[in-house]
Amino acid sequence: MGQMLFPKGFLWGTATAAYQIEGAYNEDGRGPSIWDTFSHTPGRVHDGDTGDTACDHYHRFREDIKQMKKLGLTTYRFSFSWSRIFPNGEGEVNQKGLSFYHQLVDALLEAGIEPNATLYHWDLPQALEDQGGWLNRRTADCFAAYAAFLFREFKGKIKLWSTLNEPNGTVVGYVSPSFAPGKNDGALHMQVIHHLLLAHGKAVQEFRKAEMGDAKIGIVIDMWMRVCENNTPEEQQFAANENDAFYFGYLDGVYKGIYPQSLYDRFSFTVLPGDMDIISTPFDFQGLNCYGRYVVFTDQNGNIGSRFDRYPRAMYDAVAKVRSYKPDIPIYITENGTACPDVLTEDGHVHDNDRIAYLYDYLAEVYRAIQDGADIRGYYCWSLMDNFEWGAGYSMRFGLQYVDYPTQRRIFKDNACWYQRVIARGGLDAADRPGEAGQGTRYAATLI
Ligand code: BGC
Repeated sequence: MGQMLFPKGFLWGTATAAYQIEGAYNEDGRGPSIWDTFSHTPGRVHDGDTGDTACDHYHRFREDIKQMKKLGLTTYRFSFSWSRIFPNGEGEVNQKGLSFYHQLVDALLEAGIEPNATLYHWDLPQALEDQGGWLNRRTADCFAAYAAFLFREFKGKIKLWSTLNEPNGTVVGYVSPSFAPGKNDGALHMQVIHHLLLAHGKAVQEFRKAEMGDAKIGIVIDMWMRVCENNTPEEQQFAANENDAFYFGYLDGVYKGIYPQSLYDRFSFTVLPGDMDIISTPFDFQGLNCYGRYVVFTDQNGNIGSRFDRYPRAMYDAVAKVRSYKPDIPIYITENGTACPDVLTEDGHVHDNDRIAYLYDYLAEVYRAIQDGADIRGYYCWSLMDNFEWGAGYSMRFGLQYVDYPTQRRIFKDNACWYQRVIARGGLDAADRPGEAGQGTRYAATLI
């Protein structure tokens, strides 16, 4: 208990993604992405919400950076919108779109905030989807060309790069109807993964060719590990299949250049000679998104299912899993957070004690992992502000700031005031952990 102070130089940040915050979906030459098409298709996204305006960050990024400064952030993770830079996914560059990112990165650097850029957070240019998207091997080459272009453009400015955010978020769009492009065919699972990882490996090779100095590159993988409630053989089989399909497939691929046998047994997909060498090209750090875990259970009718479990130790376990592949790999916790039924109360605040308790508990596990030898270098809270939560539209709020969408006003929630203190202190103080909603004292919420 008491204080848990993180290593000197530990980066404290927040994360966002282009489609979730930028808006300006058809401005300054931006081409459509699969998420534009998907959200514009009736019935796909909750309440018909779209990212057309989202948080209007495209126009408000300077104010957003001021808010980051107030919080004391030392780093900020964002993603590039591929189709804002290459409206067709390849070919001609859209200079206005590119200029937006130069302005954003310059303003971050000026504010002393380390940019951490993700090349792909699920928003494939529609033009590439029209040619088969991630089922088309060529998409991996287009991605490598897009990546190489950005490496050249931002060399010397951006020191932290990730190829892909959560490849699972892309796979879901091919195997279920709930995410873009909404293909809904379970058989496609491994071919999509394989092409995504090929894109990752090719981009890492471009990064090396570009001689990026002290800049580093990694991949962001999300870990929601499956554990069994009753440990029946059926539950164990289900959990093993899901762990392989959603996590170990990626980790085995990028660290060992193989896929778990169960994925070959369950899916048909094409791997060409040399692919696994490309996929396992060494990279510099592991980005880890961790929100919790899933418990596999058997219902009254004997059917197997799984349910989300808020379990802070999932963070520690996810780090341990990554370290079982490469014990000294530098790790960034690139996302962690929770949605709450936030209410802007009459006193002008959002009292989200429950979220503070969540963040505190997960950060304490990050701390514990560091004590046990993990080289964790930074933590990014999801998210800087409420935003477009994919299939759930604006119905879920994850932000440090409450966004009043009609006015685009940003209001620091209590958790932002708490996080500001964590950053200023360089760690946690047990006295600062509130009780869960309704149980404890309310966290005194003002910025320092
Ligand atoms: C994704 C984010 C998403 C968050 C909360 C992560 O899986 O990378 O884009 O908003 O989880 O659901």
